[in-house]
Amino acid sequence: MANSILVLCLLAFSCTVATAFEPSPLQDFCVADTSTNAGRVNGLPCLDSKLADANHFYFSGLHIAGNSSSSVGSKVSPVTVAQIPGLNTLGIALARIDYAQWGVVPPHTHPRATEILTVLEGSLYVGFVTSNPENRLISKVLQKGDVFVFPIGLPHFQQNVGNENAVSLSALSSQNPGVITIANAVFGSNPPIAEDVLVKAFQLDKSIVNRLQTQF
Ligand SMILES: *[C@@H]1O[C@H](CO)[C@@H](O)[C@H](O)[C@H]1NC(C)=O
Repeated sequence: MANSILVLCLLAFSCTVATAFEPSPLQDFCVADTSTNAGRVNGLPCLDSKLADANHFYFSGLHIAGNSSSSVGSKVSPVTVAQIPGLNTLGIALARIDYAQWGVVPPHTHPRATEILTVLEGSLYVGFVTSNPENRLISKVLQKGDVFVFPIGLPHFQQNVGNENAVSLSALSSQNPGVITIANAVFGSNPPIAEDVLVKAFQLDKSIVNRLQTQF
């Protein structure tokens, strides 16, 4: 009796973990049916599999450089389930990133995905920070062909440190990795986080908090 309860508990636990991490699909594929509001379990409803064709699994355009002349000097071109409905339930996505000289991808996290990045052109300074209380920075300068991993959920960043534009390609372990850019989330939330919270949290003067809030 005690044994079967233990087995049941283990089963329930493993099911919970699997659901939270985009479980292995129970069918060949589940092309996202974006035309319906039918209930979703953990992703988008499936299109009738007989209606699926090659274009549901296809995207074109990652050979095109993104326009990196933004204030941070980078441009992300995502290829997630939003671009390829056939990625629904499969737990994987891609992104091309273009960097202007000294351009950065500001510190951000992907709440649902580990990222593995390859440098296609140029040199990047990359890093991530571990959880409290260590908050250890693990960083490296990468050259063309180098690969680096950002573990799921950890804040990370990239900077172009070469003398030319840089390009990287990332694979991510979710059809919908999500992005939380730290500065935008904290200083640019809508509606704003109460100013006195930010003053105390960041140990800054009100004027600096206000300035940061207008910036983001
Ligand atoms: C790139 O973006 C900048 C700033 O948004 C804009 O001024 C420029 O025209 C864009 N360049 C191209 C080629 O689209």
